[in-house]
Amino acid sequence: MKTDYRHSTLEDALSKIKSGDRVSIGHACGEPQALVKGFVSRLAQLRDVKTVHMIGQGESAYCCPEMVPYVRHNSLFVGPKERKAIYEGRADYTPRYFSEIPKLFHDGSLPLDVALIQVTPPDRHGYVSLGVSVDYTLAAAQQAKLVIAQVNSFMPRTHGNSFLHVSDIDYLVECNEPLIQLPKDGLTNEGKMIGDFCSELIPNGATLQLGIGSLPDAVLLSLAEKKDLGIHSEMISDGVVDLVRQGVINNKKKTLHKDRMVVSFVMGSDKLYDFLDDNPAIYMAPVDYVNNPSVIAQNDNMISINSCVQVDLTGQVCSESIGPMQISSVGGQVDFVRGSRMASMGKSILVFQSTAKNGELSKIVPFLDQGAAVTTNRNEVDHIVTEYGVASLQGKTLRERAVSLIEIAHPKFRGMLREEWERRFHAKYLT
Ligand code: COA
Repeated sequence: MKTDYRHSTLEDALSKIKSGDRVSIGHACGEPQALVKGFVSRLAQLRDVKTVHMIGQGESAYCCPEMVPYVRHNSLFVGPKERKAIYEGRADYTPRYFSEIPKLFHDGSLPLDVALIQVTPPDRHGYVSLGVSVDYTLAAAQQAKLVIAQVNSFMPRTHGNSFLHVSDIDYLVECNEPLIQLPKDGLTNEGKMIGDFCSELIPNGATLQLGIGSLPDAVLLSLAEKKDLGIHSEMISDGVVDLVRQGVINNKKKTLHKDRMVVSFVMGSDKLYDFLDDNPAIYMAPVDYVNNPSVIAQNDNMISINSCVQVDLTGQVCSESIGPMQISSVGGQVDFVRGSRMASMGKSILVFQSTAKNGELSKIVPFLDQGAAVTTNRNEVDHIVTEYGVASLQGKTLRERAVSLIEIAHPKFRGMLREEWERRFHAKYLT
């Protein structure tokens, strides 16, 4: 048994971070909160530090205006905590498919000096598990010149390709504290209707991916009568645990990693974290494996369910900005849209409530807002679901797909959309 782990105090470990370093921060609910707090309080002694991560679920204090002289943040996914800093020009955003983020670290496009990670206590062989977030965190730990790990006994020990040996970590800092938890959104009527429409598209035995946002997880509530579902998903939340307990998700019909759920990170509550702990039925792996479209496609009946911000009448999908204002990123959406469409009997589904801003705006629009990013292009869009039904776009002409989309728009916006359709296609007849 290895006994010479380099245990360190927080202060000593963080004192090794230098001016000019690029520091990667462990992802989402896997963020090492004690390390990040300590790092932020040391920033005033440094200059030109750069931070980088995908979803920040902690305080993101390095994005505050008073931090400008010391640090600049680079987001690989724009979450609510970083949006303001990016709008105000105090932080940056780097677009990239989630499946390719580890490559940015591995091929030197985004070299890392320091990785701040959070792990379980070492097992008797000297291995720690990355727990709730393997995603890009494993690649960051493999590439950074200096790896500082918060050892937290609250971190669930997850199985799969989620382990690091302590000899690959420079400093281990023990600090036990509850993980970041994300409360589950309540189910709206629209969410229930969208879930029911999705359920009609999901056969027994399907393998599911559930994207980020309130709706993909809400779809699970409509699947209680299904049988033999499986999971191959970049992320999961609490809703999956209920369906496993009800015997609906059992992974028995999966054609890749049969009997096991494949996941790259999780965001939820202790209910989910307890379910993950030492559970060999869950295979956690880095995102360049889980989100690789050719890996996803090995799951027959693969169904991806993701959400978006706006769809134009030709089927171009914006999922990441409001006009030019970046509010999110592509994340794993296109990885899974592609992978599920490549899979035998696969389907991709995009779900959204037909309106935004308390019903004032239609999400189905004649044209995407000026400056909006096309996240999923119209050549790859299959099924779009709102509370008014399903628009299946594959095989349809521009004129036909616009008709299908108008049918699932909110009734109060259909007139405006119909007028645009008539102008655009010189047509007088709309079914
Ligand atoms: N016009 C103007 N504002 C809009 C809008 C529109 N068409 N659509 C959404 N918004 C606003 C909402 O009002 C909300 O604003 P607020 O934060 O001030 O309340 C904000 O944008 C977020 O919208 P909401 O519908 O609440 O988001 P959500 O939590 O359900 O997530 C996405 C939806 C699209 C942002 C999310 O699914 C996403 O980031 N997708 C891209 C990445 C992805 O799909 N990854 C998949 C693999 S994990």
